[in-house]
Amino acid sequence: MQAVVVAAGEGTRMRPLTANRPKPTLPVAGTPLVERVLDVAEPYVDGYVLVVGYRDEVIRDLVGEEYRGLPVEYVEQDEQLGTAHAVGRAADAVDGRFLVLNGDVVVTDELVAGLVDAGGTAVATKPVPDPSNYGVVSHDDGRLTELVEKPEEPPSNLANLGLYAFEESVFDAIDRTELSERGEYEITDSIGHLLDDGEEVSVVEYDGPWLDVGRPWELLSATETILEGLEGRIEGEVEDGATLSGPVVVEEGARVRDGAYIEGPVVVQSGADVGPNCFVRGATVVGPDVRVGNAVEVKNSVLMRGTNVAHHAYVGDSVLGRDVNFGAGTKVANLRHDDENVRLTVKGERVDTGRRKLGVVCGDGAKTGINSSLNAGVTMGTGATSRPGEAVLRDVDG
Ligand code: UTP
Repeated sequence: MQAVVVAAGEGTRMRPLTANRPKPTLPVAGTPLVERVLDVAEPYVDGYVLVVGYRDEVIRDLVGEEYRGLPVEYVEQDEQLGTAHAVGRAADAVDGRFLVLNGDVVVTDELVAGLVDAGGTAVATKPVPDPSNYGVVSHDDGRLTELVEKPEEPPSNLANLGLYAFEESVFDAIDRTELSERGEYEITDSIGHLLDDGEEVSVVEYDGPWLDVGRPWELLSATETILEGLEGRIEGEVEDGATLSGPVVVEEGARVRDGAYIEGPVVVQSGADVGPNCFVRGATVVGPDVRVGNAVEVKNSVLMRGTNVAHHAYVGDSVLGRDVNFGAGTKVANLRHDDENVRLTVKGERVDTGRRKLGVVCGDGAKTGINSSLNAGVTMGTGATSRPGEAVLRDVDG
């Protein structure tokens, strides 16, 4: 059985973090999303088919032609015309029954086991408190009867998670699928055709963690959730005089210097250099080759590969992309004085993030001048800059 992983999308809601790479290659708790998906499928499959499109070279470089000894085949989806279109691209690459997984979700292998064990065509669902925001599944004794998108009066509390097992019969149903109202070929419409054809579709109920990572702060929330279960491990160098409290991982090749106080859950990845005399609090990932220097406090943040926060700075509840450079004295606000939720720009609109605490989101290569103050909910685009002493109150384009 193969797993088809759909990973061709542009990840527009995740900008600026997806300006240079597809969303499935972004790290959650230090591991790229797509690797997490491949890992949960691994015990059940004998190969992967990756549907790629936007910045496909990044995903090809990351995953390669073989993943943990299993073959990886790539198929191109040049235009992102929807999930049915994406799955349809894999028609010539799969042989028999197969799984379909999104490249941007965090689940456990229990979910994959449920789909595999169900046999035939199967839809993964999860009971949720407010199903009207999801595709909702109706069933008769575990047999799917209807799938309705965002119904005002949900027929059940089971949300469709967008993860499936299919027989090859789905490709014919995909060929018959027409554009939806929102202008996409939706796999849920193809499943409707299967039902019309009289095919039995099993409803698999899953009650484990399911994190759909679509917007920048969801990267932060997913990291927080995964790091809750972190077990400490020291493989790198920790100098005398450094304090590690709670679960802290220091990977091989990382260095934690004298006077650093690290309160887990925190992951310090290979090549990172932390301290002396700094405070790093969870849930934080100090990514590969990141520098956190003297008199710097980092709290609940994700610092991606090669980023520098070297002198006298505060970074709270923030996501810094690759090779970001914070000038000495840069401070991030992560809480509004009126205690309202912080808003962030998503596809040009200010959106309530549901978070009281959120700092900034910086695209790759953003640079702040010394003593910059960055307001809560600001985004800096790829390569964006601020001037020395500047109060950055609005988004800065890259
Ligand atoms: P999303 O709906 O999250 O779309 O797709 P997206 O393009 O990644 O993100 P936005 O909406 O622009 O912010 C869920 C999964 O399905 C894949 C995506 O790559 C993602 O892993 N997908 C979606 C495709 O591969 N092709 C498509 O046509 C649509």
